[in-house]
Formats: sequence, structure tokens, C-alpha cells
Amino acid sequence: MDRMNIKVNENNVSEKLNKANSIEAFYDSTAILVTGATGFVGKGILEKLMRACPSIPAIYILIRPKKDQTIKQRLKKLIDDPIYDSVRVKYPSVLSRIHPVQGDMSLPDLGISPADRTMLIHNMNIVFHVAATVRFNEPLNVAVNTNTKDTARVIQLCKELKHVISIIHVSTAYNNAYLSEIEEKVYTTCLAPSAVVDICESKDKTLIDLLEERILKMYPNTYTFTKNLAEQVLCSSCDSIPVAIVRPSIIGASRKEPCPGWVDNIYGVTAVFLQIGNGILRAMIINKDARLDVVPVDYAIDTIICAAWHITLHCDTKTKVYNCTSNAPYLK
Ligand SMILES: NC(=O)c1ccc[n+]([C@@H]2O[C@H](COP(=O)([O-])OP(=O)(O)OC[C@H]3O[C@@H](n4cnc5c(N)ncnc54)[C@H](OP(=O)(O)O)[C@@H]3O)[C@@H](O)[C@H]2O)c1
Repeated sequence: MDRMNIKVNENNVSEKLNKANSIEAFYDSTAILVTGATGFVGKGILEKLMRACPSIPAIYILIRPKKDQTIKQRLKKLIDDPIYDSVRVKYPSVLSRIHPVQGDMSLPDLGISPADRTMLIHNMNIVFHVAATVRFNEPLNVAVNTNTKDTARVIQLCKELKHVISIIHVSTAYNNAYLSEIEEKVYTTCLAPSAVVDICESKDKTLIDLLEERILKMYPNTYTFTKNLAEQVLCSSCDSIPVAIVRPSIIGASRKEPCPGWVDNIYGVTAVFLQIGNGILRAMIINKDARLDVVPVDYAIDTIICAAWHITLHCDTKTKVYNCTSNAPYLK
């Protein structure tokens, strides 16, 4: 596959604004890079983009090889997923416009080869940064590397893009879980991201453990804390590129699209629902004052895709935050 042959329109932002009345038109000459495309949310973003914007010229996905699977094998497995069946039938050519780029978010320069980097720099317009480690019990230094430093690496790449339109960063509504209300703004932490990164890079295990212990007094886990740091990194370093942060709460099965009830993992709240449905789980000790805020995955995907359009329309240098939650009532 000769990726350099793909015709990527180099529209600038003002041309995009002329097409702003239609999301499909907005994407019809826009080349996209998606990180985390093999995960639950990423798979759904690909599906919706291909189904709703079939003229999209190219979608590049940053993907790492795994165990005995090359990135090409992983791509094949991804696009063979039944969620792409309707795209396969209606718009068969669009699937061939998905291209894998080998990379690893946890490595310097995202582990992308110089040749691929040059190709991305010349062709990409919008970056959806979705990848993260969503393991709640990840050691602090691992979570910082994958969820915070990776974001800095993505920003660095975006700053080099020749025709960049926007960056959409998928965060979490729980990265300030100690607050009862969350505004659409970026919150700071008691320690600046650079200080946390420095400690994690020091390899001083005692210091890292002490820091983790301190953080876990305020944040439920290293995941939410490092996602918060990533937001701050974006906010402080993307002065020239429109950036949106989309913060879903707990992402659950789809309401409608690509089909009702679509989900591709069984962790978190889905695992609980599954066990209840199977009759395995009959009682749970819960905090009656806690809210279970779940958003259907299709709502989160639509918000992510629309955010790129919306910040282009309202282009300014300030990072825009979109909370994507259900504002669930208290359980009675
Ligand atoms: N699911 C939720 O309830 C929820 C709620 C709020 C926010 N979010 C956010 O939504 C985003 C996606 O979550 P998800 O539920 O789709 O998670 P997921 O299913 O676990 O997918 C994670 C994705 O990130 C990729 N990734 C992780 N580490 C990587 C690395 N070092 N290099 C390259 N790729 C890497 C994974 O690739 P591999 O396939 O190679 O592992 C996978 O594609 C995350 O940013 C998360 O914080 C999720």
C-alpha cells in the first residue's frame, strides 16, 4: 500500500469554515490520525467517521504490534470486526482508506519511524488522541508515561503538522473526582505535571511510591490523576493549535449506533451489568450517595467527532473542554 499516494486535501481552516454547516462536508477533505483505534472508543470513532463521512480521504491509526501480531494483522482483525459490517456493505471503499502507522505511545517520539513521521507531518489535519492505559491500578510511573507524557508527545507531533486543524483529546470526567461539580475548564493539581514527570523519571522508587501514596489520598487512582496532568499539559503547550478536551464519564453500551447495546469490553460498569444479568451478582455494597454516571458510547463518539468541527468554527487559542456526562440523579 502506497500511503503517499493518498490524495489528502490540504484545505486550510478558512476553507473548512465555509463548509461548517455540515459535519460530513467538514470531514470530506480532512485526513485524520487516531490513537487508541483498537480500543472500545477508538473503534466506535472509526465506525462513525466512515459511516457518516464516507468521503473522508484517509484515516491513519497509530497502532502497536502485539505479541505475535504485526500491525497489518491487527488492522485486518480490527476492520473485520462485525461493527464495520454496514460500512462494508454501504461504502466498501472507505475501509481501504484506513492505514496503520506503527507506534507506541509510551516511547519517545511515539515510537513512529522517521519516514512515517514525515508522512504524517505533511498529511494530517485532525488528531483524535484517544489512547490511554485505563487500568486503575497502574503504577504511577507507568500511568504518567502512557497517559501524560504520551500527550506531550502527541502535541509535539501536532506542532510539526503542516496543515493542522485541531487536536481532540479524550479525557475523563473523573479526573477531578474530589469535586462535586465539574466545570468545563482545566483544573490544576497540587504538583505541576513537570514535577510529577521529573519524580517518575528519577527512578527513585521510594520517592515515586511516596508520591503515589499522597496522590491516592485525593484521587481515586493513578489513571484519573495522570489524565488530569495530561489536560494541563495540553492547556499549557497548545498555544497555536485549536484543542478540545472531551470528558466522558463512564462509557457504557451504545444507545443506538452502530447498533443498540454495542459494547466491546466487559470491564467496569459493563462487567457489573453482565453479572447482574446473568444472575451471578445479587447484592453489592455501594455508597448510596454516589452517582453512577454512564454515557452511551455513541453519545461520547458524537461529542468527540463534533468537537473537532465545533472548535474549528469557534477558533481561538483557548483550550475548550466538553464534559460528556449524563448528570445522573442520586440513587435512591
Ligand atoms: N471506557 C470508559 O468508560 C472511559 C470513560 C471516560 C474516558 N475514557 C477515555 O477514553 C479513551 C479510550 O478508552 P477505551 O475505553 O476505549 O479504552 P481501551 O478499550 O482500553 O482502549 C485503549 C486504547 O489505547 C491504546 N493504547 C494504550 N496504550 C498504548 C500504547 N502504549 N501505545 C499505543 N496504543 C496504546 C490501546 O491499544 P492496544 O490495543 O494496542 O492495547 C487501545 O487502542 C481513553 O483516553 C480513556 O481515558 C474511557
